[in-house]
Amino acid sequence: MVGKPQIPRALTIAGVDSGGGAGIAADLKTFAALQVHGLVAVTSVTAQNTLGVFGIHDIPPSMVELQIDVVAEDIGVDAAKTGMLSNPGIVRSVARSVKKHGFPLVVDPVIFAKSGDRLLVEEAVEVMAKELLPLAKVVTPNKFEAERLSGIKIEGLEDAEKAGKIIREKYGPEIVVVKGGHLSGDKSIDIVIHGSGNVTMLEGPRVDGCTHGTGCSFSAAIAAYIAKGEDLLNAVKKAKEFVTIAIERSYKVGKGHCPVNPTAYLELDAERYRAERLVEEAIAIIEKRAEDVAKLIPEVQSNLAYALPHYLAKSPRDVIAIPGRIVNYMGRAKASGPPRPGASSHVARGVLAAMEIYPEYRAAMNIRYIPGLEDIASKAGFKISWYDRREEPEDVKRKEGASIPWGVRTAINRIGSMPDIIIDYGDFGKEPGAKIFGKDPIDVVNKLLRLIEELKRNKTIS
Ligand SMILES: Nc1ncnc2c1ncn2[C@@H]1O[C@H](COP(=O)(O)OP(=O)(O)OP(=O)(O)O)[C@@H](O)[C@H]1O
Ligand SMILES: [Mg+2]
Repeated sequence: MVGKPQIPRALTIAGVDSGGGAGIAADLKTFAALQVHGLVAVTSVTAQNTLGVFGIHDIPPSMVELQIDVVAEDIGVDAAKTGMLSNPGIVRSVARSVKKHGFPLVVDPVIFAKSGDRLLVEEAVEVMAKELLPLAKVVTPNKFEAERLSGIKIEGLEDAEKAGKIIREKYGPEIVVVKGGHLSGDKSIDIVIHGSGNVTMLEGPRVDGCTHGTGCSFSAAIAAYIAKGEDLLNAVKKAKEFVTIAIERSYKVGKGHCPVNPTAYLELDAERYRAERLVEEAIAIIEKRAEDVAKLIPEVQSNLAYALPHYLAKSPRDVIAIPGRIVNYMGRAKASGPPRPGASSHVARGVLAAMEIYPEYRAAMNIRYIPGLEDIASKAGFKISWYDRREEPEDVKRKEGASIPWGVRTAINRIGSMPDIIIDYGDFGKEPGAKIFGKDPIDVVNKLLRLIEELKRNKTIS
């Protein structure tokens, strides 16, 4: 089928990180997350993990050029980025291809990996600066690379701005972004030099997350947004937001610098949708057994909460629940509305606390406490634990929102494993209650229905 391409196309010219964190792996994840078709020209194969680079095998420059040529000629390239270029021959062949095909180029002037290992030999640095930077729309040096390319030392934002301006004047790319990942402060600030020497500061929180591959992901996101038609400055701004999410929602693998998670951007929406559907399914089961379930709904009403996978779930906003709760309406359990993110604080905080210890326990529902529940439930094979708010330390009591997590942790530690049901014996003016925990909402509802059967059999409820 010949015609207008149905999806923007972005090319990465970079190395392979066998640890799957940086380089081509990060770039392709980024392209996929931003819904552009990813193309690849491999420059070098590295034997790498989260601890460092253990071997480098460069691809012959002519082969790098051939990879670029064939995809440019057949598929087309709306924007490209470069990462690890390793040696002068590869730098030159890339410069030649860019001139030949004329696509917009983002140069991440990679010299060192996060581990400090060298990814561009010393003799290639000048070649990259002189032959590739002038062809770039956007160049994204980190602190060390900006120091090397500008020849000045960078201690703070003012120096970063100076360095950016020097690089722009010396080599002529349209935009220079001096990245702030290696600067200090509670914000990670990137300095963007653009237009007629304008300076824009891109601020983001400094996140305590995995940062291997941040630079790769950032430059790939810029290329992806350019491919999608954003102007250069907007592409850089959006890429900064993208990379912040990728760090914030990263997961730990390996013993060293763990990798960013560029697909977080997609996973967040996908997992929210999946979670909403599963809560809806569970609610449908509850409403089929509305009269029975109503008997276990407490004065404060119930909620059924389901968190996103643990590396995506950072706060109650990342937990799906029922706004307005599950109420006892004329003796029947009824959800007040469809599930939404952030609709619970109480039950959600309980789930998040449990997940810190048992990440797979992502769902919970609070129910009424019925005296004798402990015995009946344990005889039926449920694992039960409890906490007593009178034992809550003063500093926990004073801290807003800290009681439930303290209680859940206390109950888990008491039995040394994940309970099915945690009882909260309440306090003066606080109704006692219980929470049923499970791996997902269906698991929780199955436990709820089994508990109801047991309570009926024992005539604790009718
Ligand atoms: N801890 C952090 N929190 C928030 N943003 C960060 C953090 N570390 C880096 N960034 C952001 O990630 C992007 C990449 O910056 P960084 O300085 O880490 O690049 P780099 O050193 O080239 O990364 P890499 O090691 O992957 O090559 C920038 O937008 C920067 O602000
Ligand atoms: Mg880098």
